[in-house]
Amino acid sequence: MNPSTFIVRGDICYSEVCGELKTLERGYLVCENGLVEGVYGSLPERFAGIPVRDFGRQMIIPGLVDLHVHAPQYSFRGTHMDLELLDWLNRYTFPEESKYADEDYARKRYTVFVNDLRRGATTRACIFGTLHVPATEILMDLLEQSGLRTMVGKVNMDRNAPDYLCEESAEVSAQDTVEWVKDCRKRYRNTKPILTPRFTPSCTDALMENLKKVQLRYGLPLQSHLSENLSEIEWVKELCPEAEFYGDAYDRFGLFGADCPTIMAHCVYSDEREIRRMKENGVFVAHCPESNMNVCSGIAPVRRFLDEGLHVGMGSDVAGGTVLSIFTAMMHAIQASKLRWRLVDDSLKPLSAAEVFYLGTKGGGAFFGKVGSFEPGYEFDAVVLDDSRHSAPCEYSIADRLERFLYFHQEQDIKAKYVAGEELFC
Ligand code: GUN
Ligand code: FE
Repeated sequence: MNPSTFIVRGDICYSEVCGELKTLERGYLVCENGLVEGVYGSLPERFAGIPVRDFGRQMIIPGLVDLHVHAPQYSFRGTHMDLELLDWLNRYTFPEESKYADEDYARKRYTVFVNDLRRGATTRACIFGTLHVPATEILMDLLEQSGLRTMVGKVNMDRNAPDYLCEESAEVSAQDTVEWVKDCRKRYRNTKPILTPRFTPSCTDALMENLKKVQLRYGLPLQSHLSENLSEIEWVKELCPEAEFYGDAYDRFGLFGADCPTIMAHCVYSDEREIRRMKENGVFVAHCPESNMNVCSGIAPVRRFLDEGLHVGMGSDVAGGTVLSIFTAMMHAIQASKLRWRLVDDSLKPLSAAEVFYLGTKGGGAFFGKVGSFEPGYEFDAVVLDDSRHSAPCEYSIADRLERFLYFHQEQDIKAKYVAGEELFC
């Protein structure tokens, strides 16, 4: 048997299909060469002699996936939420992000961010940096050392930003991006570059054209923001009168799915045309409910996206969101969907715990490939959860314990973490 084979045992819970949980008490989860070999109720003979790490009645679930988070904003999380998006960016976010021109500042702040991300249940994340290449590489160095698997973006922004946080020109922005991508290829294995035009108001047409060339040349994925806030959407109409809808302002440059794997955060106000285009192009939606509440954006019609068969994952969107926990994001997704159902549209029924668990695991994980489930061949990302503080295992089903975990968990309940078969802590 391969020496990299090992087995973990506990109360297993994962999701293959949105809305359905697979659970197994005291099950065995076999890892072979960094991949899931299988889940078993009793261990097949061929695994006799393979080490088994027994976690008793602790729960074992796939690692969580954060499809949208801003690392430089971690420093002001939980403050400055008195304004809507555009004023919030100008008043608080841009001044803070400008500080990352200072490498010492960046190292200090990004160390806290990466340590906290590593300690939580997230195994994969798509992360915004700032426009500064040295600071973004400091962030990527730290992530590479952490054992997490991430995609990280040097942000592009060449208009409608203060002088202190605006790139000199489209050409300089694209050239810096190319140099950074080349550097990343030499330096990192598990930390991948992802193109990151901040959002349409921050990027000239010339920059978008240049980024498409970079995207094609290096085969890169892309992340950005879409239809988050009403004033933002009006502004995009003024800036891009030729676009049929906001998403079309990206699609016109080939930066909206299809041959460019894309995550769009928010999609609170996506209309039927935008939803159709996202579906046709396979765009991933990063649902960030806490951020949408904190900066008063609204509530995304996630049920509509699911009915339509769109790819949807969860995002923390710190510092629109306050915490990195994707369990908390799942809880907020359920609660927000109930308010939306009650106050906005009673034809879209609320989300269940099983549905949001799928979004936070396999739904977002699909952006990374076979990630977020315990089906054979999936990358072995797993976290072990001790919920004995709040749910005696003999009194509750695994499904109920998982649901409670969304509401009651604390960081110390996360007992072990594996990413692609590597143990991060135990
Ligand atoms: N749109 C453009 N930039 C940002 C950002 O930093 N946060 C959020 N929530 N939306 C944005
Ligand atoms: Fe964001």
